[in-house]
Amino acid sequence: MASDTELFAAAEAVRARAYAPYSHFSVGAAILADDGRIYAGCNIENAAYPIGNCAEASAIAAMIAGGGKRIRRLYVTGPGTAPVTPCGGCRQRIREFADLDVVVISHGIEGAPLTQTLNQLLPHSFGPEFLSK
Ligand code: THU
Repeated sequence: MASDTELFAAAEAVRARAYAPYSHFSVGAAILADDGRIYAGCNIENAAYPIGNCAEASAIAAMIAGGGKRIRRLYVTGPGTAPVTPCGGCRQRIREFADLDVVVISHGIEGAPLTQTLNQLLPHSFGPEFLSK
């Protein structure tokens, strides 16, 4: 299993490629997937602001395109001292592909990482199993 050091390095490597000319807030995300591989993504902003992509969404897209099916662990990096936690929409995107006990590490790289489960980030959540009855 990939270590958090490897996941942090992957998130930081892809964060360097973020396209964030409007917010100047570059974010990287690295997923350890069920196939044992690491899939990474960065935020990609757009002049039409609402259609920008978050790093987590980019990493999920890379995972699905690359053949991974499930998120086993997720590491998010961004600027500053406060943990860069996934936005509300991305918490739901993660929920689609991760069990509730999956660990999400949020790290503003000038501060300490925050380790939480998906269930802590998105309690009482709605997910795919509600539609599989
Ligand atoms: N952003 C992410 O990519 N992931 C997060 O977890 C927090 C926010 C991006 C969206 C936007 O491009 C920029 O950071 C500022 O909100």
